[in-house]
Amino acid sequence: MRVTVRGFDIYKAYLDPEQQAGLVADIRQVAEAAPMFSPETPYGKPMSVRMTSAGALGWYADRSGYRYADKHPSGVDWPPIPDAVLRLWHDLTGLEKAPDCCLINYYGEGARMGMHQDRDEADFKWPVLSVSLGDAGLFRIGNTTRGGKTESLWLESGDVMIMGGDARLTYHGLDRIRLGSSSLLPYGGRLNLTCRVARGIL
Ligand code: SIN
Ligand code: FE2
Repeated sequence: MRVTVRGFDIYKAYLDPEQQAGLVADIRQVAEAAPMFSPETPYGKPMSVRMTSAGALGWYADRSGYRYADKHPSGVDWPPIPDAVLRLWHDLTGLEKAPDCCLINYYGEGARMGMHQDRDEADFKWPVLSVSLGDAGLFRIGNTTRGGKTESLWLESGDVMIMGGDARLTYHGLDRIRLGSSSLLPYGGRLNLTCRVARGIL
């Protein structure tokens, strides 16, 4: 079933439990090679979300700002994007072009992400694909400028969402998770993958 909220296309229960478990195994491998960390925001506060990336580039933040980096903070390359994730991207976006970053966010108890635009990429014509795994997360969708009325919806394990077109620069955030609502992850919490084309052609 597909629902569209303010231009965000949400495919509810797109992944069956077996596919979800397969993705978790893939992500575990990525996180073994490139361990999760909590980046510091430019304001000097650690983010409550833990993250790592797969692909040529990984998303990174510290006091000098938000950006893509070609290495994990430990100095190792980011692991390749798992095949199953690439297949999902191509199936759902219909694009031949591959993403060059798959950001992996982990929300434990109390973790959240404030309202923001995804705007560290070179070209906003490419969509962002989002995959939710584990505990449900309350996702908030705003407007293309900061503020204004928002709408919230629960993203559940196996839901896949595309943020593209006019919605590509819509503000969004994750208010909270419903801890223990899924048994996919052994210790609970929520994983969110976002695949992006970060680099431009130059
Ligand atoms: C993000 O906007 O980067 C993450 C959204 C989510 O966790 O669903
Ligand atoms: Fe985002």
